[in-house]
Amino acid sequence: HIVRREDYLPPAFWIDTVELTFDLDPAKTRVLNKMRVRRNTAAGTEQALRLDGEDLNLARVLVNGQGATFKMDNGQLVLSNLPVDDSPFELEIFTTCQPEKNTLLSGLFTSQGTFFTQCEAEGFRRITYFLDRPDVMSVYTVTLRADQALYPVLLSNGNLIKEGQLEEGRHFAKWHDPFKKPSYLFALVAGKLVAREQTIIARNGKEHLLQVFVRPGDLEKTEHAMQSLIASIAWDETRFGLHLDLDRFMIVATSDFNMGAMENKGLNIFNTKFVLASQATATDVDFGNVESVVGHEYFHNWTGNRITCRDWFQLSLKEGLTVFRDQEFSMDMAGSDSARAVKRIEDVRLLRTNQFAEDAGPMAHPVRPDSYQEINNFYTLTIYEKGAEVVRMMHTLVGEQGFRKGITLYFERFDGQAVTCDDFAQAIADANPESELTRLLPQFKRWYSQAGTPHVQATGLYDEMAQTYTLRLTQTLRPTPGQSDKQASVIPVKLGLLTRSGQAIPMQLQGEADPATLERTLVLSEAQQAFTFVNVAQAPVPSLLRGFSAPVVLHQQLDDEELEVLLEHDSDPFTRWEASQQWAQRIIITAINDGNDTPELPPRFTQALSKVLNDPLLDAAFKDLVLTLPSEAYIAEQIATVNPQRIHTVRQALLAQLAAALQADWQRTWDLHHDTGAYTPDALSAGRRALAGKALAMLTLHSSTAEDTIWPGKAYQRFKDASNMTDRFNALSALVHARHPLAAKALPLFHQLFKNEALVLDKWFQLQASAPDLDGDILPQVQQLMKHPDFNIKNPNRARSLIFGFTNANPAAFHREDGAGYQFWADQVIALNAINAQVAARLARAMDAWRKLDEPFKAHAETALQRVAAQEKLSKDVREIIEKALAPA
Ligand code: ARG
Ligand code: ZN
Repeated sequence: HIVRREDYLPPAFWIDTVELTFDLDPAKTRVLNKMRVRRNTAAGTEQALRLDGEDLNLARVLVNGQGATFKMDNGQLVLSNLPVDDSPFELEIFTTCQPEKNTLLSGLFTSQGTFFTQCEAEGFRRITYFLDRPDVMSVYTVTLRADQALYPVLLSNGNLIKEGQLEEGRHFAKWHDPFKKPSYLFALVAGKLVAREQTIIARNGKEHLLQVFVRPGDLEKTEHAMQSLIASIAWDETRFGLHLDLDRFMIVATSDFNMGAMENKGLNIFNTKFVLASQATATDVDFGNVESVVGHEYFHNWTGNRITCRDWFQLSLKEGLTVFRDQEFSMDMAGSDSARAVKRIEDVRLLRTNQFAEDAGPMAHPVRPDSYQEINNFYTLTIYEKGAEVVRMMHTLVGEQGFRKGITLYFERFDGQAVTCDDFAQAIADANPESELTRLLPQFKRWYSQAGTPHVQATGLYDEMAQTYTLRLTQTLRPTPGQSDKQASVIPVKLGLLTRSGQAIPMQLQGEADPATLERTLVLSEAQQAFTFVNVAQAPVPSLLRGFSAPVVLHQQLDDEELEVLLEHDSDPFTRWEASQQWAQRIIITAINDGNDTPELPPRFTQALSKVLNDPLLDAAFKDLVLTLPSEAYIAEQIATVNPQRIHTVRQALLAQLAAALQADWQRTWDLHHDTGAYTPDALSAGRRALAGKALAMLTLHSSTAEDTIWPGKAYQRFKDASNMTDRFNALSALVHARHPLAAKALPLFHQLFKNEALVLDKWFQLQASAPDLDGDILPQVQQLMKHPDFNIKNPNRARSLIFGFTNANPAAFHREDGAGYQFWADQVIALNAINAQVAARLARAMDAWRKLDEPFKAHAETALQRVAAQEKLSKDVREIIEKALAPA
């Protein structure tokens, strides 16, 4: 069944209030649902009321207290003969469900004896019959009843209005959420939990109670989450003038969760991975992720909850905007300009490696999709990350002040409503009538409707006689599944021009009165456009797409000298980093094309990298990024026919050379950075730890091939002595990635030390699954680990760490010439399909790029896909992914 955007119809009924009473029991929970319903006469007077439901046992339906006739149609509960006018009536529905059997983790489920809910996108219908769509917004009052000893804490959205004892050791809590909300934002939690609490006084003098609930024993790992929440609240006030609108704001952590976290109104539910952090158990990356996800969910309170989506095709309305906001939050928290730039580069790297691949594969879809079979399959990098880039381009085109005005207008117009991506873009444009965004709005909105990544070809022509420099930009967008003709996008290209010695050249466009500037943003809106700069005294080196000003693939013919100029001198850290990546990519791809397994790094390249590594003015985090070769996945993205083994061989060969050629530099780097002092997770010290970790990895890798055994010993020592997880894990990874024998000693010790820390065990499984393959030994090792007593396929974090750690994070081990990796993949998709369709569908996507594979990989991949496709009981989640993968390209 395909749902189409063009088929949207307003709801036939509204549900103004909902009163829910839960008798919580893991085996059989009883749910009484009393709704005040009225007909939406604007949508007609005839229609039946069709309520969504899934996996429910229906016991009773009453209309205004009277037994009512109803029928079931395709899982929906259908009531006819309702009032034809808009007079309200009371509808009461009594159902039961089985939370402990709910391995889908959608709707009401239990995790280690605690009840949780996950309702986005369509989980509420697994709790009760309802109009489970985001444009039906209601005021909720929720009573929870449960055994007091087993479930001392009872939480739902909004304010606690009453609590007390009941008979037989039971108790109750009654919650009221004053804000209207769609059903996907409903939540409840019940169990044995403890909370870190903090009262804050907001700018406007209002008092708020903040709580972070976790299992007893985890409390000391919640400090960072609480600080991140406080910082998020302050940031949204300062940057956007948006205040916390609730007396109480709660975060609850669960170790069984399909996604990262969920922004339920006033009661955010999080994967433990994004709440718990201590220096002993979490890395700097984990600390950063906690900050960013806490921010993301908090920012949803306005962008998502106060203004929500009309329908699920508009998902990026809240997700793209909220990712943009959490990215900006993390950048502002990072402090310095260079730390901001590091965060930007990391975000771009994720987008280009994974979202560009999505845009080029069978699941390509626009930021605002036109159709879906299963909405859960559309919580994608395109909706989130590309969606954030679209918001970022608007921000670029109207400026920071203009964007803030646009957001203000957006809330003036739509607060309390369920709206569309068009509404958002219109508000930003209307607040900035003079902007390029407003001038080009209909065309700009193609970013919402067209799938695929635009490619931009840039060619420069210097005319010495005329002292002009003409930059010709051409854009193309290839067809994507179901979308063959594409039109020109609006592409902001931020740029600068440099002399060969790295000086910025003032830019003035021909015929333009504006004074020359050192940096500017050109707006490419036609298929091809030429921009001529005047008074250019020498052939410039163009620095294009600064800050990654648009989500496009840029092609330009820069020679080594020009790349060197950019890498050494560009004022824009992104373009500077990109020069290193372009250069490395060219070397790698040339070797692959030449069939050269033992390529050599050109001395000019290693010297340029050495300069960066030794530059006292650059941040360690930035050096770490420059000194990282493009990933195998990213390289595969640049190649038409992919042999993952060749990519791995070439990249590993160059990595070994980078380790050898810069050995003295790596030692100096280690000496300067390894003493990381008292642990604080700030960006600057995190960068130092990252660079020290890289140096140690390089030195360990080098001595695994050379005589010298000092560095593996040092790595082992560091692994044992480290006072924080970042240093400890980096040292362990260095041994594992060098496939050094000491890894076999360190891994069991690591397990022993952290056997009671679920999130650390995830790292232990993931690291082993992603270790470099030696003669095909990783797959058997993964299969062995599947039998480990600590492995549990029902726990999504654990399943992801081991299975995805192999299929998604270890291309050379996964893409085996004998196809055994794909067989393993098919086995696990089939196993997970019976347990948790959402996790299974994510795993199914590991084969997205199979059509690009070289033989024999491609034939084996097709066999594996066909095997999954032939399964009788395939969830619609997995079915959609597999069908699209196998559809003729
Ligand atoms: N809205 C959540 C977030 O981005 C994600 C929920 C995903 N849910 C799902 N069923 N796919 O913060
Ligand atoms: Zn979100």
